[in-house]
Amino acid sequence: MFIISPSVLAADFSQLGAEIKKVEKAGAQYIHLDVMDGIFVPNMSFGAPVIASIRRTTSIIFDVHLMITEPQRYIDDFLKAGADIITIHYESCENPAEVIRYIKSKEARAALAIKPATPPEVVYPLLGELDMVLVMTVEPGFGGQKMMPETIEKVRAIRTYANKLGIDIDIQVDGGINADNLKYATEAGANVIVAGSAIFNAPRARDVIEKMKHAAELYPFGSGLAERVEKGKVKKRV
Ligand code: DX5
Ligand code: ZN
Repeated sequence: MFIISPSVLAADFSQLGAEIKKVEKAGAQYIHLDVMDGIFVPNMSFGAPVIASIRRTTSIIFDVHLMITEPQRYIDDFLKAGADIITIHYESCENPAEVIRYIKSKEARAALAIKPATPPEVVYPLLGELDMVLVMTVEPGFGGQKMMPETIEKVRAIRTYANKLGIDIDIQVDGGINADNLKYATEAGANVIVAGSAIFNAPRARDVIEKMKHAAELYPFGSGLAERVEKGKVKKRV
């Protein structure tokens, strides 16, 4: 199943509750909440109090992406605020495995994110414990960037390795994804799609979400798109 997780970074913050309702009605299954501390990434967004406040307006799954240093300091706060999935960055702390285990011990779903320069192999030892891996398709920090095509092969490597072990894990992609280029990510093995500007800047969120789900279903993992691109039969448009 393909999941669309709109990132509220591109939403109108003065109407956050209404913006979330809008994409929920339009068919989104998660809401992606980007938390930035100005240290791990050169930008700041919002923290647990904002999440706690919007939690009261919806029961949709909150997919919280922590772009903060030493995330272990704040896991309890985000759980209390109503996070359903907590994603920490591999690069953000000394012992990501310990933080992942802590999140799991609190009955929340745990995910590990890797930046574009981080090799996919770092997540392999934890695949059996993780609920999801997030492969960043841009440098984290800002919405509205262009997807980096070279990150897509990391999605394929992780999906192939997980399949070999018989592990059915979610693989999320985040950054610069739109209804046209998402097929490269799903064909490589992604099944949870984050999109900020593509959804919130569109005149009709429903049209984009439907188009995204349709494209994902047409190009699931291993559907051969990569070979056709290689042979020049399909033009690569990322
Ligand atoms: C980037 C964030 C993304 C971002 C996605 O650091 O993690 O979630 O908001 O926005 P778009 O889809 O506009 O790239
Ligand atoms: Zn994100």
